[in-house]
Amino acid sequence: MWKDLLDLPRNVWRSIFRNPLPSSDRGRAATSFTNFFLHIQPVRVSKQALRPSYTMGLGLISFFLFVILTVTGVLLMFYYVPSTGMAYDRMLDLRSSVAFGIILRNMHRWAAHAMVAVVFLHMCRVFLTGSYKPPREFNWILGVCLFLLTLLSSFTGYLLPWDQLAFWAITVGTSIAGYAPLVGKELKFLLLGDANVGQEALLRFYVLHVVVLPAVLTIFVAVHFWRIRKDGGLAKPEPAALPPAAAAEPDVAAAAAVPAAEPARRFVIQGLVRGPLVKVGKLEEDTVFSWPNLLIAELVVLLLTIAGLLAVSYFFNAPLEQPVNVMHPPNPAKAPWYFLGLQEQVSYSAFWGGIGVPGIELLLLVLLPFIDRGKQGVGRWFARERVLANSVFLLFVLINVVLIVIGTFFRGANWQFVSPF
Ligand code: HEM
Repeated sequence: MWKDLLDLPRNVWRSIFRNPLPSSDRGRAATSFTNFFLHIQPVRVSKQALRPSYTMGLGLISFFLFVILTVTGVLLMFYYVPSTGMAYDRMLDLRSSVAFGIILRNMHRWAAHAMVAVVFLHMCRVFLTGSYKPPREFNWILGVCLFLLTLLSSFTGYLLPWDQLAFWAITVGTSIAGYAPLVGKELKFLLLGDANVGQEALLRFYVLHVVVLPAVLTIFVAVHFWRIRKDGGLAKPEPAALPPAAAAEPDVAAAAAVPAAEPARRFVIQGLVRGPLVKVGKLEEDTVFSWPNLLIAELVVLLLTIAGLLAVSYFFNAPLEQPVNVMHPPNPAKAPWYFLGLQEQVSYSAFWGGIGVPGIELLLLVLLPFIDRGKQGVGRWFARERVLANSVFLLFVLINVVLIVIGTFFRGANWQFVSPF
């Protein structure tokens, strides 16, 4: 019995972690296979996928921001009450009487803004490296859904502080939805639960924000990651696009040329796949073990994301304006920044700016991988073969960014053009 007691810590440790820290290739592979959190990763990962200059870690940062938002969001739920009479007071409490309340709210708010921006940048990186092409069409479409879900999550959270900024931004934002043909009015009513923003809208936005959208986002992110594995990891350049040494991988023709004295080796993977795997031995040249290479890269990105967010949250407080006053709309009332491009477009034409143009842009985004299927220029930034596609995409991005900048800085009372300088 004494021996068992003495061995207790070691036995508890071993009951959780079956393998010791790996010191061999076999151990590294076993660690990736057997650990619940690591088994989503492949055993080996391409060196290109690990290069910070290739992905810039944007997908990972998006994911970590989502995790941080979930953790800080759950903590905020202990204090927040989705009632028009109490919501604003709870915001004041967070600022003055809840321990670390202000930093908690700042982190949640800035992470939400950052996630919108980072997910968008991640989409740009995927486009500019041609990584949406077959077989990744479906993952691209999942990505487009993730982008919309991110926007919606941020938008629904915007109302919750119940201050002037929140109230009027959501009033403007939901009135854009009202411009949709045929279903506009019904859509707006469905969102608000009433003709105007009020208690019903606050409750609906709250439920969408804390339950529905995070749950859907979690499922989509899980499928997104699973598809990355199933699509063979991150997109890589075709061998022809690589320098000669790297391109010199054996192919099927080379298999046929294997001399009779040295027959092609046959491998059976768990009895499922049979046949000569002629790439065995050479396939892994441009890859490294995920343990510890990918794990360390992920931890570094996580720490940098947390450190950056903490720094911003320490120095800058999330805005909180006066409590809602429905009789005093600010002039101009502006939507959240990521919808200011839309609001700017709406000022020219309500239907085309709010529904027509964004609808066409969205449709083009979804159809993109089915329109542009050529394999050239995949897995490289700004490949020469993709100069047309990249230029058109960057033009769209530029137009939308300029519209947001105009809406944010150059619009004053009655949406008149003003100079911020
Ligand atoms: C919540 C939002 C998202 C999360 C958490 C996320 C996460 C990730 C991660 C971690 C990767 C792998 C590494 C990397 O590129 O950083 C990745 C790859 C990918 N993502 Fe996302 N993503 C999101 C949104 C999007 C969006 C908006 C799109 C496009 C519309 C997209 C399309 C893709 C594609 C096609 C790949 C594979 C890229 C390749 O093979 O190189 N994702 N995503």
